[in-house]
Amino acid sequence: MNSLWIDSIENKNNFKKLEKDISSDVCIIGTGTFGLTCGYYLVKHGYNVTILEKEHEIASKTTGHTTAKITSQHNLIYKYLIDSLGKVQAKKYLYANQEAIENIAGIVKDEKIDCDFERTDSYVYTKDMDELEKIKLENEAVNSLEFDSKFVTETPLPFEVLGAIKFSNQAQFNPLKYAYGLADKITKNSGEIYTDTIVQNIEKEGDYFITYTENNKVKSKYVILASHYPFIDRLGYYFLKMYQSTSYVIAVDTHGKTFDGMYINSEIPTFSYRFVNYKGKKLLIVGGADHKTGSKIDLSNAYKILEDEVRKYFPDCTVLYKWNTEDCISLDKIPYIGEFSNLMPNMYIGTGFNKWGMTSSNVAANIIVDKILGKENEYEDVFKSTRLHPIKNNEELGNMVKEVTNSLVINRFKISENDLTRLENDTGHVLEYDGQKIGVYKDKDGKIFAINPVCTHLGCLLSWNNLDKTWDCPCHGSRFDYKGHQLYNPAIKDLDVIEIE
Ligand code: FES
Repeated sequence: MNSLWIDSIENKNNFKKLEKDISSDVCIIGTGTFGLTCGYYLVKHGYNVTILEKEHEIASKTTGHTTAKITSQHNLIYKYLIDSLGKVQAKKYLYANQEAIENIAGIVKDEKIDCDFERTDSYVYTKDMDELEKIKLENEAVNSLEFDSKFVTETPLPFEVLGAIKFSNQAQFNPLKYAYGLADKITKNSGEIYTDTIVQNIEKEGDYFITYTENNKVKSKYVILASHYPFIDRLGYYFLKMYQSTSYVIAVDTHGKTFDGMYINSEIPTFSYRFVNYKGKKLLIVGGADHKTGSKIDLSNAYKILEDEVRKYFPDCTVLYKWNTEDCISLDKIPYIGEFSNLMPNMYIGTGFNKWGMTSSNVAANIIVDKILGKENEYEDVFKSTRLHPIKNNEELGNMVKEVTNSLVINRFKISENDLTRLENDTGHVLEYDGQKIGVYKDKDGKIFAINPVCTHLGCLLSWNNLDKTWDCPCHGSRFDYKGHQLYNPAIKDLDVIEIE
């Protein structure tokens, strides 16, 4: 099911596939809010910009599936940042994100982008006595950074909380309308956007980069990787310092009392709430049920967890939309923004936005555009993409290595009739024969689809996702449909299809 953001846009297919070789000052790969914001700022500065998107529609992945909160309140982070990096860096993180809110407000106003932007307050709350002390300490930490957050015990929510931290004057909007607004300004300023255009490789040639698509190439002085999880491993090694998390969202119609503000709790399981104006109605958006992508867990109840929670307070509600999304999680909770690698000058990246991509994408765009312009940016050192310390997270690294599997590449396989009959319809399994693994999905009508269940990124064994009927990678979060088509980076190749005899 589409997100309500995607459903809110008419005339989505305004762009064409790249079908010629071109040159550009800057080649941007990816049309989420990060790539588009970079493009917007750069065309304003007179740069010639080309943006490539592998999907048929722009901003249709993470940007099109977010809860779209524009806030510097990134759950409980400021005490952690002060403890791990010190007050100066923690304050920079906070003010970079506060500035991002104002930057977005400025773009919306200056460019008259009709995207339902509205100011509202943001809260992190708890109903759990064990979390209350953390909430109080976080509020003290934020205040020590000279930011006027408030500890409160009452909120507009329809249930009681033990305590909450309130950040005033944050914002929310429709992220797809914003993305299409940016795309419109880019193309009106001579920028070019191409969809259905899959980047396969990037190579350095002298002072230029050559970005290769299936049949064409783009020559540019600068490259910005805005493709969510980077699909290039060499030199950057982001696969050692980032994984992906899946979270779920429902939008419900209710006759219950609406409330202002954006909310998230600090405990597990996480639930987030906000209302949205949608086609003359106010719908409640509820998010949560997060898990590491590719976890070997039963996902069939993911939306039901959210629905059961919201029905406690809005028993009459009707679920109108359900969607899920992937977020890149950096191991030290800070995005990676800046040079892709110390060995690749003029190639930039913004990733690891940790579920807070609305402000982080603007922070990232400002830092990278300043780099291209040769300007200092006071926040860049906090987010430095080439920092090394996250690699020290041995636990996560160990998990990734453990999942790597050796597999022969096969394309024909004989499965016994008995085994096929035993599989229930509409289920997926990894079967093993003589040490060889095979991923099998038996659809609702009993038709078999078999693939080699080895991720085409770095060879981890895939897990079956029984909610979306996809093969998901537990290492870095690539996903493939049951026929083996690649859906999410960092993998860029489809799975090997196996013919069943
Ligand atoms: Fe990296 Fe699968 S996503 S091995």
